[in-house]
Amino acid sequence: MLLLAILLGTTVCMTGVQCQKDEVLVEAGSLAVLPCTTGTPPQTPVSVQWVKINGRVQNTVWRIEQSGLEFRGVGPAQRSRCPHSEFGKGDFNLHIEGVRPEDGGEYICRVSRGGWEEQKHVFLWVIQVSVSPPLPLEGSEVAVACNVTPWPDRASVSWKHDGTPVSQQQKQRRAGNTKEQKILSVSPQDVGNWTCTVRLRGKEGKATQMLSMRGISSPLKDMTPVYAAVGSSAVLPCVYTKGLALEKTSWERKQNGESSFNPVLRPPIPSPTRPQWDHSLWLESVEQQDEGIYRCSGEVEGRILQRHLLLVTAQVRSMVPVKPNAPVTLTCDVSNDTGVTGYEWVRVTYDLNGTQTVNGKQKSKTLKIQKMTEEFSGEWVCRYSGKHGILGNASYHLHLMSRLEGEQAGGSSSKGPMAVGLCFLVFVLLLIGLQMYKNHRRRKMILQYPALETIVHSTSNAREKRERNRVREKEQVHQTEI
Ligand SMILES: *[C@@H]1O[C@H](CO)[C@@H](O)[C@H](O)[C@H]1NC(C)=O
Ligand SMILES: *[C@@H]1O[C@H](CO)[C@@H](O)[C@H](O)[C@H]1NC(C)=O
Ligand SMILES: *[C@@H]1O[C@H](CO)[C@@H](O)[C@H](O)[C@H]1NC(C)=O
Ligand SMILES: *[C@@H]1O[C@H](CO)[C@@H](O)[C@H](O)[C@H]1NC(C)=O
Repeated sequence: MLLLAILLGTTVCMTGVQCQKDEVLVEAGSLAVLPCTTGTPPQTPVSVQWVKINGRVQNTVWRIEQSGLEFRGVGPAQRSRCPHSEFGKGDFNLHIEGVRPEDGGEYICRVSRGGWEEQKHVFLWVIQVSVSPPLPLEGSEVAVACNVTPWPDRASVSWKHDGTPVSQQQKQRRAGNTKEQKILSVSPQDVGNWTCTVRLRGKEGKATQMLSMRGISSPLKDMTPVYAAVGSSAVLPCVYTKGLALEKTSWERKQNGESSFNPVLRPPIPSPTRPQWDHSLWLESVEQQDEGIYRCSGEVEGRILQRHLLLVTAQVRSMVPVKPNAPVTLTCDVSNDTGVTGYEWVRVTYDLNGTQTVNGKQKSKTLKIQKMTEEFSGEWVCRYSGKHGILGNASYHLHLMSRLEGEQAGGSSSKGPMAVGLCFLVFVLLLIGLQMYKNHRRRKMILQYPALETIVHSTSNAREKRERNRVREKEQVHQTEI
């Protein structure tokens, strides 16, 4: 019964009905699996042979005898295998690892036992994307080619760049077994993964290649905005790819309202560890008038490479002077708000450890406080954000006038003891004055009684003597006198 079925299968194959060609489209470098399955799993050992058709000759790639003896042939043979474990399922697939364009072509799988043989034809198409030159200089010509080996008739080729379909209007050219995409002036937008998809009689295969470029690696986009708070430092990036032979480099700037660029003198780079291909411009303290368009340029192999950067400044302004119990309005002022989609106000407080805590959020460009009290004083930060998150922030220290005065009195540490000393001096002078007045009054009284004068005098003299010796006794003398 089984034999009959196999025989029937063979007969069918012989007549060519079930012997349709299988087609496999595989990316170069990956694992190719060439299918070969028989309708019914074999019950007894079989011999399997895989051959590759090269013109008029057939070269054995891989073969196993009924005895279990294995042979490897030429070409892809060294990278090929036919897993025995699957034989029991009637699966004689050929696995070719690290498939190469030259492996492409027609293969035949022959499974036999006794006088019976079953045969399958498999066509392997190898797809590869190549970039030439492999590492083009920004602005030069580059070709991205989709090579299919061998080139199939009636195949359709489509391109994707970083997952986005590339319109068919772009320059595409067919040459030999490739279909190429020519880029006349390569720019950062062309950098990324180029994927070519080949469709053939309902089957599909694709291959990808990364396109890299020599030139300015950061920023990649022209007119890149750089946001900086007034008073803070800022870096306008301009980094070339490592190892470029740079000839002339410069920074220029066009102020708002001006029509041409003027040179910017580059201040010394703060970090000595900065590599030589990093030509970023460092601004120590950004001022409001620094905003505008900057241009970084350099010459490489006779070609001028450049990037424009947009310095956008941000600061918080108070509309009216801050007074206790009066309303306060703070405005978040970003010099170019084209890329700004939202604002947020937060109050920042610091604990003893210096850890900052962010409280209270208000989403608006202006912050309105109805009545200025102590609870609102402190650091207010305006965060502005764009489509992809926070762009930057600017802060403002809000203080009450009374608080400022209090700070002045309490804060001046040297004035306190001085004032106390002064009061003490006045008090002492007053006491002395009072004592002198008392003495004067007493002398006047004593003059009326001359007899008493000598007694008073002697006591007075003795007192003065003692006074010089000991201060404490002075007080006792005073008491006796009184
Ligand atoms: C390009 O492909 C590589 C490898 O598949 C991947 O790691 C990388 O993230 C891809 N790059 C982009 C921009 O899609
Ligand atoms: C503001 O920025 C945008 C890009 O973010 C730019 O196109 C525009 O020219 C800038 N406006 C001014 C006045 O600089
Ligand atoms: C300050 O830091 C110390 C040690 O790191 C920690 O134990 C303490 O809880 C911190 N205090 C506050 C207020 O965060
Ligand atoms: C403001 O920006 C600086 C620098 O990016 C950051 O360190 C700081 O945490 C920001 N402050 C707030 C309150 O977001």
